[in-house]
Amino acid sequence: MDKLHSTANAMRYFEAIEKRISRRTYLNENIEPDKLKKINEYICNYNKLSGLSIQFIEDASKGFNGLIKSYGMFHGVKSIIALVGKTSDPYLKEKAGYFGELLVLEAVLLGLGTCFVGDSYDKKNCPCKIEEDESLVCVITIGPVDDKPSLKEKLVYRMTHRNTVKAENLYESEGEVPSWFLNGIKAVQLAPSALNRHPVKFVYKSGNTYAFVEETNKFDLVDLGIAKLHFEIGAGGKFAPGNYGTYSK
Ligand SMILES: Cc1cc2nc3c(=O)[nH]c(=O)nc-3n(C[C@H](O)[C@H](O)[C@H](O)COP(=O)(O)O)c2cc1C
Repeated sequence: MDKLHSTANAMRYFEAIEKRISRRTYLNENIEPDKLKKINEYICNYNKLSGLSIQFIEDASKGFNGLIKSYGMFHGVKSIIALVGKTSDPYLKEKAGYFGELLVLEAVLLGLGTCFVGDSYDKKNCPCKIEEDESLVCVITIGPVDDKPSLKEKLVYRMTHRNTVKAENLYESEGEVPSWFLNGIKAVQLAPSALNRHPVKFVYKSGNTYAFVEETNKFDLVDLGIAKLHFEIGAGGKFAPGNYGTYSK
């Protein structure tokens, strides 16, 4: 896991964090072979690190395109990444968020569009392999997109970003927080989050830092994994796994 946190990687990831927005209109094309090779290598590596069974699915269009399947939110979806893991893994959802978002950031650096999708697709038509002891947490659409978002994407973006994510709503502290902590929070402001709720809170008290979420939504723990990764990239340290996991700089 340490290689993920080298300074060079943090800089690459920060560039991706600043570029990324969820994309919902795709060109309905296959990913170019050299890019696909890299995505598959990342998946293989993250599966080894996490114990998840993340899968790339070249054609998952059946589960997406059509008004009913994605409530009209998505167009031209071809490929997805399915975030699958052992149902008994106590950190399953958090890991799906953490490692899924690492894949999203790598995809952004390859010039591909992405979007985490928990609800607006037809789960029954998802052609991924789920063993009896496994669960599908959510998927990520991935593929070639136009450089500029379509009119419809801009509309959805405006709808989902009606509330700006204020830094002060993302943390609790006793007194002033150090600048590295604020750098972490800045990266969290730019994270994807189900329904753009940003439910994860970062706490800085008596010199200790931890992150928690009050589990009120089924994707809150996925958001926790995504937010922890963004904080680590911005602040330069590492969280212990789990809700209320503590941070070491
Ligand atoms: C766990 C999770 C589930 C999501 N599910 C959906 C979904 O079902 N449909 C959708 O259109 N967007 C979905 N999104 C994308 C969010 O709406 C999006 O991240 C949020 O509005 C912030 O926008 P941004 O990603 O462009 O910054 C999901 C995001 C996350 C993290």
